[in-house]
Amino acid sequence: MRDPAETPSRHRPDAGGVVVSLPIADAEATTGWPHRHLLDVDQLTRAELEQCLDLAVEMRELRNRRETLSTLRGEVVGLAFCEPSTRTRVSFELAATALGAQVVDLPIEASSVAKGESLVDTLRALERTGISTIVLRHPMGGAPYLAARSVGARIVNAGDGAHAHPTQALLDALTLREALGPLDGKKIAIVGDIGHSRVARSNMHSLTALGASVWLAGPTDWVHGFDDWPGVTVAHSLEDALADADAVVALRIQLEREAGGEMRSLRDYTTQWGLDEGRMELARPGTPLLHPGPTNEGVEITAELATSSRSLIGTQVANGVPIRMAVLSLLAR
Ligand code: NCD
Repeated sequence: MRDPAETPSRHRPDAGGVVVSLPIADAEATTGWPHRHLLDVDQLTRAELEQCLDLAVEMRELRNRRETLSTLRGEVVGLAFCEPSTRTRVSFELAATALGAQVVDLPIEASSVAKGESLVDTLRALERTGISTIVLRHPMGGAPYLAARSVGARIVNAGDGAHAHPTQALLDALTLREALGPLDGKKIAIVGDIGHSRVARSNMHSLTALGASVWLAGPTDWVHGFDDWPGVTVAHSLEDALADADAVVALRIQLEREAGGEMRSLRDYTTQWGLDEGRMELARPGTPLLHPGPTNEGVEITAELATSSRSLIGTQVANGVPIRMAVLSLLAR
């Protein structure tokens, strides 16, 4: 729900910087954005997904020109990462800073939660310091939903348990759209530990909403129960998933979510499901490879494949900042 108290767009070039022509999306800023929080991509229509990707492209251009925006000037963005993160945390920090916000780390795990204070109580207390947006990564699926119901700040889900990772799905969609063109009718194979992957779940929502067909491949326990998802096919073999695929997304085995208990050995996994150049030949020629990172090189994918010309892993990381700029500025409308 849109908060009527929200200020209209302040998506303007920084007053102290070079005055630039406004991005196209700025003209639409007053038409608003109907969502106060980003909890998962399933809350977004296809048009909203595309609006977010289009705005990210504009944000990337502005950033490349080293222009700072004042969209979030005077606002404080709090980063509450209760699980390890490298790419996501840094790109949220850079995105918020590029929009003119002050950024603070909310040391949730290290502080009151460890003393028994609930997540909600801690966020409520910290919010009183003037934080307007909380970027939350939490091991418990659903934690950002609880936070969104309980605090007044905007909540951005930066990954909750095995449930959702909406900004990763958005940056993956942007990376794929730029590599393949419109995703309608494209076959995207997702390979690996799907069952424990918040990236896979969010990608299934966004890629199918954008018109792609998603094929899943991995050990039986990890693809179980996904047959019911509209637009998603559980492949009988890696070969079926990769055959004529337009793009392949590899996933990390989530040992921290006890994926190891369902697997005989990493070596067995690699033998059956690991991706290398030879296996990628099953897909269309030149088919790009994505991976959200961090990679277990030699397990899900070989080091050669990760650094090959097919690999879009670096592009995914680079797209993380403009996507998060787009999300933060859309939520502030
Ligand atoms: C993913 C995550 O944390 O869910 N990584 C990321 O955000 N770049 C995937 C993973 O950890 O395997």
